[in-house]
Amino acid sequence: MSAPTEAAAGTWAFTPENLELAKRIIAKYPPGRQASAVMPLLDLAQRQNDNWLPRAAMDYVADMLEMPRIRAYEVATFYTMYNLKPVGKHFIQICTTTPCWLKGSDQIVEACEKKLGIGLGETTPDGQFTVIEVECLGACVNAPMMQIGDDYYEDLTPETTEAILDALARGETPKDGPQNGRIRSCPKSGPTTLIDQAVRVGVKPAGQS
Ligand code: FES
Repeated sequence: MSAPTEAAAGTWAFTPENLELAKRIIAKYPPGRQASAVMPLLDLAQRQNDNWLPRAAMDYVADMLEMPRIRAYEVATFYTMYNLKPVGKHFIQICTTTPCWLKGSDQIVEACEKKLGIGLGETTPDGQFTVIEVECLGACVNAPMMQIGDDYYEDLTPETTEAILDALARGETPKDGPQNGRIRSCPKSGPTTLIDQAVRVGVKPAGQS
């Protein structure tokens, strides 16, 4: 990502590369409906700006789409994926909705708070980590889970959560997805239905029930 670009109101702008990308996004919408591109353009602006949206960036996007600035603010303040203040390099969103809660999300929150020395909604003093709790991220079958940046980390335990944070702190990219060895949302012991098909495609040995 590039350096933050909010110097003063009105001075924010897309990089030349992102400007080209923005034009391609806008071109996907019918003439006169360019305002529909507000969400992807705000997302693009946020990605350019270290994962948060200064007001100048919202103004820039609104002006580009020829829509009242207040409408861009309304979108950015309604959807939780837009950050309206600076966040850490590693932006951690822990799901605490019912399925994840039943599978131990409280312990995942606790592990993060203990490991990083911060509470929910806070950023470490070195600017490396921000932790927040969020509603269902649509990976309930792999509960409990958290999203870091664009990646999902699933089937978490306090131990695997700490290992992920340690890896990030070392500058590594921990493997995303399930952390308990299973493939995506398949049963950990392998297929339990459609066994014949499983044998045929080679994910289960013949003769294994
Ligand atoms: S409840 Fe956590 S992903 Fe759905």
